[in-house]
Amino acid sequence: MKSLLSIYDIKDEVTEILDLANEFKHGLIKGKPLDGKSLAMIFQKSSTRTRVSFEVGMYELGGSALFLSENDLQMGRGESISDTARVLSRYVDGIMIRAIEHEDLVEFEKEATVPIISGLSDLEHPCQALADMQTIKEHKGDFSGKFVYVGDGNNVCNSLLLICACLGMDIVAASPKAYQANEKIVKQSKSIAKESGSNVTITDNVEIAVKDADVVYTDVWVSMGNEKQEKERKNALEKYQVNSKLMKLANEDAIFMHCLPAIRGEEVTADVIDGKNSVIVDQAENRLHAQKAVLYHFLK
Ligand code: CP
Ligand code: NVA
Repeated sequence: MKSLLSIYDIKDEVTEILDLANEFKHGLIKGKPLDGKSLAMIFQKSSTRTRVSFEVGMYELGGSALFLSENDLQMGRGESISDTARVLSRYVDGIMIRAIEHEDLVEFEKEATVPIISGLSDLEHPCQALADMQTIKEHKGDFSGKFVYVGDGNNVCNSLLLICACLGMDIVAASPKAYQANEKIVKQSKSIAKESGSNVTITDNVEIAVKDADVVYTDVWVSMGNEKQEKERKNALEKYQVNSKLMKLANEDAIFMHCLPAIRGEEVTADVIDGKNSVIVDQAENRLHAQKAVLYHFLK
């Protein structure tokens, strides 16, 4: 049994999964490969894209998905992760979890006897990163360009650092010193990058970072669970807004990316996110194809 809690877990399989995602997108995999299989989906936080793409993905592959909000599970009343994981494993073929704490995902994975797939935690968002790289391949042809992440060094940023390193794409993450990416993930990314021949750079200088970028990516300043730090985060991240002035430093054909949901006027201005170089809806669509690839890879 193998699980997907981090991009690190699939560091040698990223290309294979992206190839599968492309095949699913273009209808090259026929039939119902997950016929009769079930996926439990536990959500401790809100979701639009992750929930719908996993549910539709399972359906299209011939299986079924169960949406389990933590409030409706006995877990919400204090039942242990261990009992929940062991019991659900007897009913279903895989469990997707959107978790508040990454540590809970790790504990769940230890106790479960079926694959666990992260649908986001406070540390990473691996399924998002897969869809993002599928999108870059479609728009740029390959991973030879410069990827620049701007803003909060959060879960999305962490998974992007790892996946760019796996695919040999140079990545620069520009964040204020207090909100830079997770140190352990940066270390892991740098060690993978050494093998793949790419560069992982962390900086607080956003202008230098964005210069000559081929991809500019940002995410919200206040992630789910960070609401109490809203004021200090907005103050610290103000200078990291992706606007047309910043985009001028990037290459002319640079694409703009965002995992969504976005707050126009905060981390990105409306003219950029709704402009001609924005690929946000392609990214969202690719969640479905990448998810099918992940489900096929782990559940078949
Ligand atoms: N990008 C993403 O994971 O969106 P949701 O929170 O809507 O699932
Ligand atoms: N960083 C965001 C991503 C949402 C998909 C959050 O964790 O809320």
